[in-house]
Amino acid sequence: MSDVKHDSQRMEKIVSLCKRRGFIFQSSEIYGGLNGAWDYGPLGVELKRNLKDYWWRTMVHERDDVVGLDGAILTHRAVLKASGHEDTFSDPMVECPITKKRYRADTIELQSGLVFEFTGARNEEGKSSSESFEVLIPQGKPRESAEKVARQFYEQRGISSPQLAGGAECRRVENSNLYAPETGARLGAPRPFNLMFKTHMGATEDESSIAYLRPETAQSIFVQFKNVLDVSRKKLPFGIAQIGKAFRNEINPRNFTFRSREFEQMEVEYFCRPEQGLELLEYWKEERLKFYENIGIKRDHLYVKAVSDDERAFYSKGTYDIEYAFPFGVQELEGVAYRTDYDLSQHQKASGKPLEYFDEEAKQKFIPHVVEPSAGVDRTVLALICEAYDEDTAPDDKGKQETRIVLRFSPRMAPIKCAIFPLLKNKESLVAKAKEIVRLLRPHMHVFYDETGAIGRRYRRQDEIGTPFGVTVDFDTLGEKGEELRDTVTLRERDSMKQERVKITDLVALLCARIS
Ligand code: GAP
Repeated sequence: MSDVKHDSQRMEKIVSLCKRRGFIFQSSEIYGGLNGAWDYGPLGVELKRNLKDYWWRTMVHERDDVVGLDGAILTHRAVLKASGHEDTFSDPMVECPITKKRYRADTIELQSGLVFEFTGARNEEGKSSSESFEVLIPQGKPRESAEKVARQFYEQRGISSPQLAGGAECRRVENSNLYAPETGARLGAPRPFNLMFKTHMGATEDESSIAYLRPETAQSIFVQFKNVLDVSRKKLPFGIAQIGKAFRNEINPRNFTFRSREFEQMEVEYFCRPEQGLELLEYWKEERLKFYENIGIKRDHLYVKAVSDDERAFYSKGTYDIEYAFPFGVQELEGVAYRTDYDLSQHQKASGKPLEYFDEEAKQKFIPHVVEPSAGVDRTVLALICEAYDEDTAPDDKGKQETRIVLRFSPRMAPIKCAIFPLLKNKESLVAKAKEIVRLLRPHMHVFYDETGAIGRRYRRQDEIGTPFGVTVDFDTLGEKGEELRDTVTLRERDSMKQERVKITDLVALLCARIS
C-alpha cells in the first residue's frame, strides 16, 4: 500500500534494540555474518516459542479437525519434481556486469535519467573490445560519470586506460530496460534462478544422490496425507498442521529477518470436498485475521490483498495475502490459498500410489481439495516487535521526565511475563522474600529476578524488553509499616506504569488471568 509511509529511522531503532537486548543476532557475526541467516537470542527465542505455542494451541489443540505432523527437512528429489518446485520454483535474476551483484528483476524499479551507449573501446596498446555498454546516470550528472562506469566495464575486460567510442546521449527519460541501482550499468535479460538449496545424500555426489532442503513445509504434509488419514481416521474436512524450517536461496535477503534464506513456517493443509473450497478460503482468511489480533497486532495495521488471477499460482482458485504495515512498507505475513487438488493429484500421478479419499456415505472416491493458511514465524515475530515498539516519557529516579523505550507486547507474547525486584539488594529479608515469589510464580510463567540498580532503572530495563508486569518487594511486604500490608507487594503494569498493592497469595491467579 503506497499510502503507508516508510520509516527507516524506526526500523533502524528496532534492529538496534533487537541486537542490544538479545532478540536477534546476525548469524556467524564474528566471521562477518552469513547473509540471510539469523540467530535468535535469549529473548527472541522466548518470543518465537510463545508465538509457535499459541499457533499450535489455537490451530491444533483447540480444534477437533486438525492434527499435527513434523516432517523431515531433507526432501526426496521426486517430491519436489512432482510438486513443480524443481522446474519452476525460481525468481527472475539479473546481474550487474560490473559488481556481479545479483538482483531480483521484479524488485528493480524503473529508473529515469540519461542513457549513454558506448559502442566499444580501445587503448594505446591496440587492444579493443567489440562489446557495447550502456549506462544510465541521473539527469543533471556530468557525462564524465557515465564514462567512469564505462571505463570500469572495459578495464575489467582487460583493456587498461580505454579510449571510449560512442557515448552519445540517448535522451530517454523513462526507459523500460533495467539498470543496476548502484552503478547504473545496463542489466542483461532476466534468467530464472532456482531458489532451492540442493544437497547430496550419502558418499557419492552425483545425479542419483541429489536431495533438497525443503522450500516449504507443505509438501511433506501432502506426501504423508494417506498415512495421517489412515491413523487419525478423520473425515473431511480436516487439516494437517506443521511448524518447521524452510529454506530458500533468496537472491536478495533484505529487511532484517523479513526475507531470509532460512526461516520457519506455520502451515495447515485443510483438506475438503471440492465444493467447499471457496467457502473455506473465506473462513480461513477470517480465522487468521482473528489470530493476528489475538497476538496483539491491531486490525488497522493488517491488510488483506486478494491476489489477482495473473499473480496467482496457476492451480489456485483463490488466494489472499494477509499483509502487515512494517516500517519498510506493507508486506506479506501470510498467504491463504485455495490450492485445489493440484498437489495430491501431482503426487498420486508421480508416485503411482493412491491418494484418494473414500466417502463412506456417498460411496465416492476422489482427491480432496485443499485450503492452505501459510504463515511465516520470523515475519510474524518481526511484526510483533514492530507493532510493540514505542517511545514515551517517564520520570527517572529523581522525578525528571526522560524518554522511555517500551515494547508493548501483548502479555501472551511477551518473552518474560513478570520481573521481581527486592527494593534493596543488601537487605537480606527483602531478597529472601523476592526469591520466594520467584519460586511461587516460576511453575506458571517465565519470570526474571533483578536486584541491581535503582528501582526506576530496573523498571526501564524491563519496559525495553516488553515485560508486562513488575513486582516489588519493599518494607511494607515485611510488615514493617503495620500488619495490614504484610505479605503484599507492589504490582506495576508496563504500559500505564500504574501500581497497585496486591496480596502475594493472589499473585498467581491475578497474573495468569491477565496474561491469557
Ligand atoms: N506453502 C505455501 C508457501 O510456502 P509462500 O507464500 O511462499 O507460500 C508462506 O510462503 C509464508 O512463508 C510467507 O507468507 C512468509 O510469511 C513466509 N516466507 C516465505 N518466504 C520467506 C522468506 N524468504 N523469509 C521469511 N519468511 C518467508
